[in-house]
Amino acid sequence: MTATTLVILGASGDLTQRLLMPALYRLHALGLTSDLRIVGYAKEPWSRDYFQRHIHKALQSFAEDFKPAHWSRFRRQLDYVGGELQADQLAALKDKLSPSTLFYLALPPPLFGVAATALGEAGFAKSPHGGWRRLVVEKPFGTDLASAQLLREQMHAHWEEEQILRIDHFLGKETTQNLMVFRFANRFLEPIWNAQHISQVQITYAETLGVEQRAAYYDKAGALRDMLQNHLMQLFSLAAMEPPSSWDAEVLRDHKVEVLRSVVPITAKTVNAHAVRGQYRAGKLGRKKLVGYRSEPGIKRSSDTETFAALRLEVDNWRWRGVPFYLRSGKRLASNYSEIAVQFRQVPGPVPHAVHAGNNWMIFRIRPVERMDLLVTAKQPGLKLAGRPSILTAMYAGPDDREFSAYEQLLMDAMGGDRSHFLRFDEVEWAWKVLAPVLKAWEKGAPDFYASGSEGPETQARLLDPEHHWRSIRL
Ligand code: BG6
Repeated sequence: MTATTLVILGASGDLTQRLLMPALYRLHALGLTSDLRIVGYAKEPWSRDYFQRHIHKALQSFAEDFKPAHWSRFRRQLDYVGGELQADQLAALKDKLSPSTLFYLALPPPLFGVAATALGEAGFAKSPHGGWRRLVVEKPFGTDLASAQLLREQMHAHWEEEQILRIDHFLGKETTQNLMVFRFANRFLEPIWNAQHISQVQITYAETLGVEQRAAYYDKAGALRDMLQNHLMQLFSLAAMEPPSSWDAEVLRDHKVEVLRSVVPITAKTVNAHAVRGQYRAGKLGRKKLVGYRSEPGIKRSSDTETFAALRLEVDNWRWRGVPFYLRSGKRLASNYSEIAVQFRQVPGPVPHAVHAGNNWMIFRIRPVERMDLLVTAKQPGLKLAGRPSILTAMYAGPDDREFSAYEQLLMDAMGGDRSHFLRFDEVEWAWKVLAPVLKAWEKGAPDFYASGSEGPETQARLLDPEHHWRSIRL
């Protein structure tokens, strides 16, 4: 008997071929999922054989290290059922399910509620004796607070919160998970991880990509909904949360929610001091000439959608009062550069007279490489007691390490039932609450412009305390 079945709804789509199947294939090749059956479900009336050939083609393009020997074993795990998202048609899956089955909604967001309901009506949400049923769904969870709450209602009609695994793929990234390990497994850090010693935190996710083929989605979403509300808010909560009393998924998520609840509310009056939006114009990246957002295929010439968003968040608790957290993300910026950078205050006392003791920075780099840097001042070799900046670097992965992609990591967690790296509904809800006034204010007016290939709109500087500067994203 197959121990676990994974049903992918939306199995003919892009997410399945580009990300899910390559991740499942690799896990299989590593021998981690030998007792898994994968059943694709989509509206196309394909045969099992046709589906397997479709996936074969996808893996040849998107899977690293694709090997015919692995494929012949992997293909035996793949099955397919064609049908609409209706209970009577989903019933055709019944005989293919194991007591423990995971349903993955690889579907366009407007269909999340429909699919969750239809699966429930088909009776698939009820965990049979000795097994479990889980539902995996990936961001975006609504487009604002009200739509997120509505989606929750739809999902909860048949599914318990504990059965729902909401993916934010950043939580499967190595550096994101390392934030928890590094912060809480090192004695030296916790005593100084507070407002007394930290002066600012900058979380940046800069991309050189433009809107690409996603105009229909992106022009409605914009950078705030696409990146800040979810991915960057997650990095922020992990950087700012209190030490949990245990690593139980509920305790961990309670602590992350507590951070969001402690954010000083942004109001209609303070929006401009807390949020900046930008949109890319034409420009250059190296030698490549790039068109502006409004000239991209599928984008309206009058679109005011932001392709860059920056926020200043303040956390009103004992640990963080007075420390600004700056979050920003944008498309068509100067480089693919991402990091969580924590600046420490300057030393209070005198240093040898030839030394300039700059601020220490602890930087968790995500791109272009995953690595940790601690910026310090050390003695400059020579006769004088002089100092100079120095960097203590730890490469994240060593030559013998096996790294897993975010999807590999999260699929294993989902099958193993570890909810720690999935979002509980209140995390989603609070992130929308924090941003509601910004979304409201941005319904009107236009974003500030920035040239493609630059560091974003100059107006982002208005979010900073006078003594702070945005870190450069140029490599
Ligand atoms: C996605 C956003 O969630 O994350 C994209 O929709 C963005 O716009 C992407 O490019 C970034 O994630 P990664 O892991 O590809 O760097």
